[in-house]
Formats: sequence, C-alpha cells, structure tokens
Amino acid sequence: MQAEIHVIDHPLIQHKLTLMRKAETSTAKFRALLKEISLLLAYEVTRDLPLKTEQIDTPIASTNAPMLAPDKKLVIVSILRAGQGILDGMLELMPSARVGHIGLYRDPKTLTAIEYYFKVPDEVEKRDVLIVDPMLATGNSAIAAVDRLKAINPYSLKFVCLLAAPEGIEHFHSQHPDVPIYTAAIDDRLDEHGYIVPGLGDAGDRLFGTR
Ligand code: URA
Repeated sequence: MQAEIHVIDHPLIQHKLTLMRKAETSTAKFRALLKEISLLLAYEVTRDLPLKTEQIDTPIASTNAPMLAPDKKLVIVSILRAGQGILDGMLELMPSARVGHIGLYRDPKTLTAIEYYFKVPDEVEKRDVLIVDPMLATGNSAIAAVDRLKAINPYSLKFVCLLAAPEGIEHFHSQHPDVPIYTAAIDDRLDEHGYIVPGLGDAGDRLFGTR
C-alpha cells in the first residue's frame, strides 16, 4: 500500500504559518492563526466527503441539490492539548461534527506517548474520523491515537497536522500505512529533545500561553 501524505501548501496557509513560527507572535495571534489555518486545512481534508441529493425549492424552481449525508456525521478527535487549536477552527466550518478527545503526554525521557484520557462518540464504526494534532514530531502520539481508535474500528481515519517532521512521517507510516497524513508543511528534522526544526516551538505552550 502506498502511504499517502498531502501537503496543503496554499499561499494563505504558508503565509499564516510563517507568522505562527515567529517567536514574537503573541498567544492571541497564534491562536487566531491556528484557527484560520485549520479552516483552510478542513476544506482540503473533507474534499471527498460523500454527498446525497435532496429535492429542494428555491424561490425560482424545484431542483435536486447536493447535501452532506445527514446520517454520517464526521468525528474530529483532538489529541490533548494542542489538538484543541485545530479542533476550534474545524468546528467553525463543521458545527455538527462529533468530537472525541485523547489525552496523551510525552514522557520527557523516552518521548513515548502515555494515555491519561480517552472519550469518543458512539457508532465510530459508521463514521469518518479526523485525528487532529498540530505537530507530527516523533510520531509516537499519533501512532498511539491511531492504535486506540483502530481498536474500535472507525469507518475511516485521517491524521491532520500543521507541521510534520520527516522522522515522524516515516515512523507513523511504518505503523499505519493506511492512514493518510494531511499537513501544511514538512520541516527539516527533529532536535535531540524531539522538537521540530525549524518548527514553531511547543504548540501547546504557544496556544495556551504556558511554559
Ligand atoms: N510538540 C510540539 O509542540 N512542538 C514540537 O516541535 C514537537 C512536538
């Protein structure tokens, strides 16, 4: 199977991403930019959503018009905590989406992902699931999230991030070649602490104003 990676490098996304990378960008601006980029990512990631036609009346005539299939609400699963930044933007575009959360933290020594929370909507086996986390760094959290979700057999899975490291992409696709990755950019590498270079720092800290 050919593992899929989609780099959504629209000029608006690249411009906003550069503003997010700047160390001097404020928390408020960083949050607003992530939300805006997430709207643009959502547009590409949902390009293949199924449509049904519905007979409607415009003020002029009756017509058969396309609508999203009502019985198959999308699920957005946010990897806590930085995933919340992407979730906010996506929910603005898709307010009826269902939402799940996976709490994972990185053990600072081993960089492995440790789960502390898991809650997702019912009937995941009938739903398309988007997993969101801004940074695909080592790939450990993304792999742990997909492992956990595959155990409940979702209809489909996609992984959506803002930045990906080549090491993270390779690691993720070595474990889950069937799950496509959507990212705004692929950066150079990881540093010795597992941070993406040049990256944007700790996405959670920058989003929530913590250190
Ligand atoms: N998580 C982050 O928030 N930033 C990185 O660079 C890597 C992982």
